[in-house]
Amino acid sequence: MSILKVPTFAIITGASRGIGRGIAIQLARKIHPDSLIILTARSLQGLKETADIIKRDVDEKLDARCVVADMSDEKSITKVNKALFENIGPVSRFDHAILVHNAGTSGDIGKYARELSDIHEIQKHYLINLTAPIALTSAFLKAFEKASARLRRTIVQLTSLSATFPQKTLHLYGMSKAARDLFFRVMALEEPEVKILTYDPGLVDTDLYSSLQHSKDSDLSELAQYLPERSYFLSPEQPADALMKTLEEDKYESGATVRCYEVLNIDVLGNKEIFCPRSRLCLLSPL
Ligand SMILES: NC(=O)c1ccc[n+]([C@@H]2O[C@H](COP(=O)([O-])OP(=O)(O)OC[C@H]3O[C@@H](n4cnc5c(N)ncnc54)[C@H](OP(=O)(O)O)[C@@H]3O)[C@@H](O)[C@H]2O)c1
Repeated sequence: MSILKVPTFAIITGASRGIGRGIAIQLARKIHPDSLIILTARSLQGLKETADIIKRDVDEKLDARCVVADMSDEKSITKVNKALFENIGPVSRFDHAILVHNAGTSGDIGKYARELSDIHEIQKHYLINLTAPIALTSAFLKAFEKASARLRRTIVQLTSLSATFPQKTLHLYGMSKAARDLFFRVMALEEPEVKILTYDPGLVDTDLYSSLQHSKDSDLSELAQYLPERSYFLSPEQPADALMKTLEEDKYESGATVRCYEVLNIDVLGNKEIFCPRSRLCLLSPL
């Protein structure tokens, strides 16, 4: 039997669309019916759509709750970090607690690095991509302090190739992802009883990806238009499926980075066609 088929408490941030919705649905398929899955993002409508899909396609009795929060707002983060753990009943009823940090934004790609003079705007970006996940992780580990001998705790955080590969106008995005990756590597050392996975979903057909076409820099906008036709452009379900496979097999070391393309056995690094001749960039070249 799958190790995921147990009563589970799950939080998925950014579950109103894109990869987060895919992860929420795929996780709902895997966990035990006596589970609680909490979906959070700004759009209540998007969250409800995800919850409706879970009820319709997976299990109408599964407890899927929607919690609206704006992770770019300090007060909203503090409020939601409390609200997410209210009315969840005794934590001892869960055998697995899983937190998925998926919410994210590319930041203002209409500016070059030298134009980032607005401190408020920079801080807002870091609230979503860095500060909110750190604070939510703390609230999660407080709520699920080794409650019972059988309780497993898992944290998944979504990273990007941009964390290690610089691309023009993805300054804040790449930096926040890099900082976050390191934060969770430190936590993996400090918390050996918590399983931490950094997960790179690959190139995925979502709003975030489409927005790259509007970069101020033509290198990035051309690359973003070029890649989907010539590379392995994934649907949001594919990285979600591959993530479930990774969690079920449970072979990764805590703190490790797993890339979706590796799980799917796609050799992107060997594919020379991904080179974009116009922008003279190769997003997926070896780092
Ligand atoms: N797509 C790719 O090719 C790709 C590649 C590498 C990594 N990733 C990573 O995968 C994750 C998901 O990205 P995606 O491509 O699925 O993007 P997406 O379709 O744009 O979805 C982003 C999610 O984050 C939520 N979100 C954005 N701003 C928020 C805020 N201020 N407060 C709360 N929630 C907020 C959005 O919900 P609301 O708008 O409803 O708030 C949405 O659910 C991100 O961490 C991204 O960095 C994506």
